[in-house]
Amino acid sequence: MTTYNVLTLFPDMFTSVCGSSIWARAISAGLISVNTTDIRDYATDKHRRADDYPLGGGAGMVMKPEPVDACFRDIMSRSEAPSINVYMSPGGKPLTHGLVTRLASYRTVNILCGHYEGVDARVLKRHIDLEISIGDYVLTGGELAAMVLIDAVIRHIDGVLGNDESASGESFVNGLLEYPQYTRPAVWDGEAVPEVLLSGHHANIAAYRRQESLRETARRRPDLLQKARLTKKDIEFITRRDSLNP
Ligand code: ADE
Repeated sequence: MTTYNVLTLFPDMFTSVCGSSIWARAISAGLISVNTTDIRDYATDKHRRADDYPLGGGAGMVMKPEPVDACFRDIMSRSEAPSINVYMSPGGKPLTHGLVTRLASYRTVNILCGHYEGVDARVLKRHIDLEISIGDYVLTGGELAAMVLIDAVIRHIDGVLGNDESASGESFVNGLLEYPQYTRPAVWDGEAVPEVLLSGHHANIAAYRRQESLRETARRRPDLLQKARLTKKDIEFITRRDSLNP
C-alpha cells in the first residue's frame, strides 16, 4: 500500500477525484491510500488562523509556520518508510516522467499544498525534501498540482492500471511520443485507417508504430528525439531522406 498524505487548506477539493475512475478503484483495492489533512485543524489560536501578513510588507498572505509544522510532525509520526515530503510550488523541480517513476518507489509521499503568496520559508526548510512544479505558470494553490502529481505517480504502482491500460508502451516511457491510435470503424466519413493495422501482421504493425512515434516526436518535440534511446534501425529511418516530411 502506498500512502499519499496531502496537507491542505482545501481538503474538499480531493473528494471528487478520489471517488472517480482509476483513483477510486485503486483506493478500494487497497493499493493506494489518499488522505487529506486540513492544516487549519493544527492552528492553535481561537480563530484557527493559518495565514498572516508578509513580514517586510507586500501584497497577499503567507501561510504561518506553526500549523504547517504541527501538521507535518503529526503526519510524519505515522508515515511508513521510505517516505518523502514534497511541496508543490512553481519554483520547484519540473515534474517529468523520470521524477514520476522515482516518486512511485516511495511508500509514503507527504504533499504540502501552498496558498496565498506562499509558505513561511523556515517551515519549508525544516520539513521539505523536494519542491515540485508542474509547469511554468502559477496556479491559485498547490492542490491541483498535487492531484496531477498523484495521478501521474499511481499509474506506475503495480496493479493500479488494468492489463488493458499498461503504462509501459506509452508516451515518454521510451523517450518518444506515442504513435496515433485508431478504433472502429475502419473507414469513417470517407477516411480509412492505415492499412497495415488491419493486416494482422504483428511485426509490420510494430515497425509502423515505431516509425510513427519517431515521426511525431521529430515533428512536435525534436528536443525529446535528441535524448531518446534509438536503435540503429530508428536512426536509419530518421536519416532516410525526407522520411520525416513525406
Ligand atoms: N502552485 C502554484 N503554481 C504551481 C505550479 N505551477 N506547480 C506546482 N505547484 C504550484
